[in-house]
Amino acid sequence: MISVASLNKSIRNGSRTVDILKGIDFTIPQGQFAAIMGSSGSGKSTLLGLLAGLDTPSSGEVHLAGTAISYLPEDQLAQVRGRTIGFVFQSYQLIPTLTALENVLLPHELNADPKLPGGSQKDGLARSRQLLTSVGLEDRMDHYPVQLSGGEQQRVALARAFVLRPPIVLADEPTGNLDTVNGAAVLNLLLNLNKTEGTTLVLVTHDPVLASYADRRITLRDGLILSDELTPTLA
Ligand SMILES: Nc1ncnc2c1ncn2[C@@H]1O[C@H](COP(=O)(O)OP(=O)(O)O)[C@@H](O)[C@H]1O
Ligand SMILES: [Mg+2]
Repeated sequence: MISVASLNKSIRNGSRTVDILKGIDFTIPQGQFAAIMGSSGSGKSTLLGLLAGLDTPSSGEVHLAGTAISYLPEDQLAQVRGRTIGFVFQSYQLIPTLTALENVLLPHELNADPKLPGGSQKDGLARSRQLLTSVGLEDRMDHYPVQLSGGEQQRVALARAFVLRPPIVLADEPTGNLDTVNGAAVLNLLLNLNKTEGTTLVLVTHDPVLASYADRRITLRDGLILSDELTPTLA
Protein backbone atom coordinates (compact mmCIF):
# COMPACT_ATOMS: atom_id res chain seq x y z
CA MET A 1 0.00 0.00 0.00
CA ILE A 2 2.91 2.32 0.86
CA SER A 3 6.44 1.66 -0.24
CA VAL A 4 9.53 3.82 -0.15
CA ALA A 5 12.85 3.02 -1.80
CA SER A 6 16.21 4.70 -1.20
CA LEU A 7 14.47 7.78 0.07
CA ASN A 8 16.76 10.75 0.66
CA LYS A 9 15.97 14.29 1.64
CA SER A 10 18.56 17.04 1.91
CA ILE A 11 17.94 20.69 2.49
CA ARG A 12 20.25 23.58 1.65
CA ASN A 13 20.66 25.84 4.61
CA GLY A 14 22.70 28.82 3.45
CA SER A 15 25.98 27.38 2.24
CA ARG A 16 25.46 24.06 4.08
CA THR A 17 23.52 21.00 2.98
CA VAL A 18 21.64 19.22 5.76
CA ASP A 19 20.90 15.53 5.14
CA ILE A 20 17.58 14.88 6.88
CA LEU A 21 16.75 11.40 5.49
CA LYS A 22 19.65 9.23 4.34
CA GLY A 23 18.23 6.22 2.50
CA ILE A 24 14.93 4.91 3.89
CA ASP A 25 13.37 1.66 2.61
CA PHE A 26 10.19 -0.05 3.76
CA THR A 27 6.86 -1.43 2.56
CA ILE A 28 3.68 -1.10 4.60
CA PRO A 29 1.00 -3.59 3.50
CA GLN A 30 -2.69 -2.72 3.28
CA GLY A 31 -4.40 -2.56 6.66
CA GLN A 32 -1.21 -2.40 8.70
CA PHE A 33 -0.91 0.02 11.61
CA ALA A 34 2.69 1.24 11.67
CA ALA A 35 4.16 3.59 14.27
CA ILE A 36 7.10 5.79 13.25
CA MET A 37 9.21 6.50 16.30
CA GLY A 38 12.45 8.29 17.09
CA SER A 39 13.63 11.25 19.11
CA SER A 40 12.90 14.83 18.11
CA GLY A 41 14.84 15.81 14.99
CA SER A 42 15.27 12.24 13.72
CA GLY A 43 13.27 12.96 10.53
CA LYS A 44 9.78 11.64 11.37
CA SER A 45 7.78 14.63 10.16
CA THR A 46 9.93 14.96 7.04
CA LEU A 47 9.26 11.29 6.23
CA LEU A 48 5.51 11.68 6.77
CA GLY A 49 5.43 14.78 4.55
CA LEU A 50 7.12 12.77 1.79
CA LEU A 51 4.63 9.88 2.20
CA ALA A 52 1.79 12.39 1.88
CA GLY A 53 3.28 14.01 -1.22
CA LEU A 54 3.40 17.33 0.64
CA ASP A 55 7.15 17.44 -0.03
CA THR A 56 9.47 16.08 -2.77
CA PRO A 57 12.42 13.79 -2.00
CA SER A 58 15.95 14.70 -3.10
CA SER A 59 16.19 11.16 -4.48
CA GLY A 60 14.32 7.89 -4.17
CA GLU A 61 10.65 7.15 -4.68
CA VAL A 62 7.37 6.89 -2.78
CA HIS A 63 4.66 4.54 -4.08
CA LEU A 64 1.11 4.87 -2.76
CA ALA A 65 -1.36 2.17 -3.78
CA GLY A 66 0.85 1.32 -6.74
CA THR A 67 1.36 4.88 -7.99
CA ALA A 68 4.80 6.50 -7.94
CA ILE A 69 3.98 9.96 -6.57
CA SER A 70 7.28 11.67 -5.95
CA TYR A 71 7.76 13.49 -9.23
CA LEU A 72 4.16 13.87 -10.44
CA PRO A 73 3.02 17.31 -11.56
CA GLU A 74 1.12 19.11 -8.80
CA ASP A 75 -2.36 18.69 -10.34
CA GLN A 76 -1.96 14.92 -10.70
CA LEU A 77 -0.39 14.67 -7.27
CA ALA A 78 -3.30 16.62 -5.75
CA GLN A 79 -5.69 14.10 -7.30
CA VAL A 80 -3.83 11.07 -5.94
CA ARG A 81 -3.45 12.74 -2.53
CA GLY A 82 -7.14 13.65 -2.38
CA ARG A 83 -8.25 10.12 -3.26
CA THR A 84 -5.70 8.16 -1.26
CA ILE A 85 -4.70 9.99 1.91
CA GLY A 86 -6.23 11.41 5.05
CA PHE A 87 -3.81 13.49 7.11
CA VAL A 88 -4.01 14.40 10.82
CA PHE A 89 -1.70 17.16 12.03
CA GLN A 90 -0.46 17.66 15.57
CA SER A 91 -1.94 21.17 15.50
CA TYR A 92 -5.38 20.08 14.16
CA GLN A 93 -5.42 22.65 11.29
CA LEU A 94 -9.18 23.16 11.32
CA ILE A 95 -10.64 26.06 9.35
CA PRO A 96 -11.80 28.61 11.95
CA THR A 97 -14.68 30.01 9.89
CA LEU A 98 -16.28 26.59 9.36
CA THR A 99 -18.27 24.57 11.90
CA ALA A 100 -17.14 21.11 13.00
CA LEU A 101 -19.54 19.53 10.50
CA GLU A 102 -18.38 21.82 7.68
CA ASN A 103 -14.73 21.07 8.47
CA VAL A 104 -15.34 17.32 8.25
CA LEU A 105 -17.36 17.68 5.04
CA LEU A 106 -14.78 19.89 3.30
CA PRO A 107 -12.55 17.16 1.75
CA HIS A 108 -15.73 15.56 0.42
CA GLU A 109 -16.86 18.86 -1.14
CA LEU A 110 -13.42 19.36 -2.68
CA ASN A 111 -12.64 15.82 -3.85
CA ALA A 112 -15.67 13.52 -3.97
CA ASP A 113 -17.01 12.53 -7.38
CA PRO A 114 -20.83 12.93 -7.26
CA LYS A 115 -21.15 10.29 -9.99
CA LEU A 116 -19.58 7.58 -7.81
CA PRO A 117 -21.32 5.66 -5.00
CA GLY A 118 -21.20 7.70 -1.79
CA GLY A 119 -20.15 10.80 -3.72
CA SER A 120 -23.27 12.94 -3.45
CA GLN A 121 -23.43 15.84 -1.02
CA LYS A 122 -26.17 13.99 0.86
CA ASP A 123 -23.91 10.96 1.28
CA GLY A 124 -21.03 13.22 2.38
CA LEU A 125 -23.20 14.87 5.01
CA ALA A 126 -24.43 11.51 6.31
CA ARG A 127 -20.87 10.17 6.51
CA SER A 128 -19.65 13.37 8.25
CA ARG A 129 -22.44 13.19 10.84
CA GLN A 130 -21.80 9.50 11.41
CA LEU A 131 -18.06 10.09 11.94
CA LEU A 132 -18.63 13.01 14.31
CA THR A 133 -21.06 10.85 16.26
CA SER A 134 -18.54 8.00 16.40
CA VAL A 135 -15.97 10.38 17.92
CA GLY A 136 -18.49 11.52 20.54
CA LEU A 137 -19.22 14.95 19.05
CA GLU A 138 -22.87 14.55 18.08
CA ASP A 139 -23.70 17.59 20.25
CA ARG A 140 -20.89 19.75 18.85
CA MET A 141 -21.46 19.56 15.09
CA ASP A 142 -22.48 23.20 14.72
CA HIS A 143 -19.71 24.57 16.96
CA TYR A 144 -16.78 26.52 15.54
CA PRO A 145 -13.21 25.42 16.38
CA VAL A 146 -12.72 28.20 18.99
CA GLN A 147 -15.72 26.82 20.86
CA LEU A 148 -14.11 23.38 21.13
CA SER A 149 -11.41 22.04 23.46
CA GLY A 150 -8.12 20.74 22.05
CA GLY A 151 -9.26 17.14 22.40
CA GLU A 152 -12.53 17.94 20.63
CA GLN A 153 -10.71 19.75 17.82
CA GLN A 154 -8.40 16.78 17.33
CA ARG A 155 -11.41 14.45 17.12
CA VAL A 156 -12.92 16.73 14.43
CA ALA A 157 -9.59 16.57 12.57
CA LEU A 158 -9.70 12.78 12.85
CA ALA A 159 -13.23 12.60 11.46
CA ARG A 160 -12.15 14.87 8.60
CA ALA A 161 -9.21 12.59 7.74
CA PHE A 162 -11.58 9.63 7.34
CA VAL A 163 -14.49 11.31 5.52
CA LEU A 164 -13.46 10.17 2.03
CA ARG A 165 -12.74 6.61 3.25
CA PRO A 166 -9.09 6.97 2.24
CA PRO A 167 -7.10 3.73 2.04
CA ILE A 168 -4.28 5.46 3.96
CA VAL A 169 -4.34 7.76 7.00
CA LEU A 170 -1.15 9.52 8.10
CA ALA A 171 -1.03 11.16 11.52
CA ASP A 172 1.84 13.29 12.91
CA GLU A 173 1.83 13.12 16.71
CA PRO A 174 -1.98 13.41 16.82
CA THR A 175 -2.00 13.02 20.59
CA GLY A 176 1.01 15.30 21.19
CA ASN A 177 -1.08 18.25 22.39
CA LEU A 178 -3.63 16.22 24.35
CA ASP A 179 -3.91 15.07 27.95
CA THR A 180 -3.82 11.35 28.74
CA VAL A 181 -7.59 10.83 28.61
CA ASN A 182 -8.07 12.61 25.28
CA GLY A 183 -4.93 10.98 23.92
CA ALA A 184 -6.30 7.53 24.75
CA ALA A 185 -9.64 8.44 23.12
CA VAL A 186 -7.90 9.52 19.91
CA LEU A 187 -5.80 6.35 19.85
CA ASN A 188 -8.92 4.20 20.35
CA LEU A 189 -10.64 5.91 17.44
CA LEU A 190 -7.66 5.38 15.19
CA LEU A 191 -7.46 1.71 16.19
CA ASN A 192 -11.16 1.28 15.65
CA LEU A 193 -11.13 2.80 12.16
CA ASN A 194 -7.99 0.84 11.29
CA LYS A 195 -9.79 -2.38 12.22
CA THR A 196 -13.34 -1.68 10.98
CA GLU A 197 -12.48 0.08 7.71
CA GLY A 198 -9.16 -1.64 7.01
CA THR A 199 -7.41 1.71 6.75
CA THR A 200 -3.62 1.56 6.48
CA LEU A 201 -2.42 3.75 9.33
CA VAL A 202 0.95 5.43 9.81
CA LEU A 203 1.25 7.19 13.15
CA VAL A 204 4.23 9.32 14.16
CA THR A 205 4.68 9.32 17.91
CA HIS A 206 7.44 9.30 20.44
CA ASP A 207 5.16 7.78 23.05
CA PRO A 208 6.17 4.10 23.48
CA VAL A 209 2.79 3.30 25.06
CA LEU A 210 0.90 4.48 21.97
CA ALA A 211 3.39 2.71 19.73
CA SER A 212 2.88 -0.55 21.61
CA TYR A 213 -0.63 -0.76 20.10
CA ALA A 214 0.76 -0.72 16.55
CA ASP A 215 1.34 -3.81 14.40
CA ARG A 216 4.83 -2.53 13.71
CA ARG A 217 7.33 0.02 15.00
CA ILE A 218 9.82 1.71 12.66
CA THR A 219 12.36 3.75 14.64
CA LEU A 220 14.43 6.49 13.01
CA ARG A 221 17.72 7.90 14.21
CA ASP A 222 19.53 10.71 12.41
CA GLY A 223 17.65 10.08 9.18
CA LEU A 224 18.22 6.31 9.10
CA ILE A 225 16.10 3.35 10.19
CA LEU A 226 17.48 2.19 13.53
CA SER A 227 15.00 -0.68 13.94
CA ASP A 228 11.88 -2.07 12.31
CA GLU A 229 9.99 -4.58 14.44
CA LEU A 230 6.67 -6.38 14.09
CA THR A 231 4.44 -7.03 17.08
CA PRO A 232 4.30 -10.81 17.57
CA THR A 233 0.84 -12.18 16.81
CA LEU A 234 -0.84 -14.61 19.19
CA ALA A 235 -1.44 -17.39 16.69
N1 LIG B 1 13.25 23.29 6.27
C1 LIG B 1 14.28 22.84 7.02
N2 LIG B 1 15.48 23.47 6.98
C2 LIG B 1 16.53 23.00 7.71
N3 LIG B 1 16.46 21.95 8.53
C3 LIG B 1 15.28 21.29 8.61
C4 LIG B 1 14.14 21.70 7.86
N4 LIG B 1 13.12 20.85 8.14
C5 LIG B 1 13.61 19.96 9.04
N5 LIG B 1 14.91 20.24 9.33
C6 LIG B 1 15.79 19.49 10.22
O1 LIG B 1 15.70 18.12 9.89
C7 LIG B 1 15.71 17.32 11.05
C8 LIG B 1 14.49 16.43 11.07
O2 LIG B 1 13.31 17.20 11.22
P1 LIG B 1 11.86 16.57 11.42
O3 LIG B 1 11.56 15.70 10.27
O4 LIG B 1 10.92 17.67 11.72
O5 LIG B 1 12.11 15.67 12.70
P2 LIG B 1 11.08 15.05 13.78
O6 LIG B 1 9.70 15.15 13.23
O7 LIG B 1 11.55 13.63 13.94
O8 LIG B 1 11.27 15.81 15.04
C9 LIG B 1 15.79 18.27 12.23
O9 LIG B 1 17.13 18.34 12.64
C10 LIG B 1 15.31 19.57 11.65
O10 LIG B 1 15.90 20.65 12.33
MG1 LIG C 1 7.98 16.10 13.97
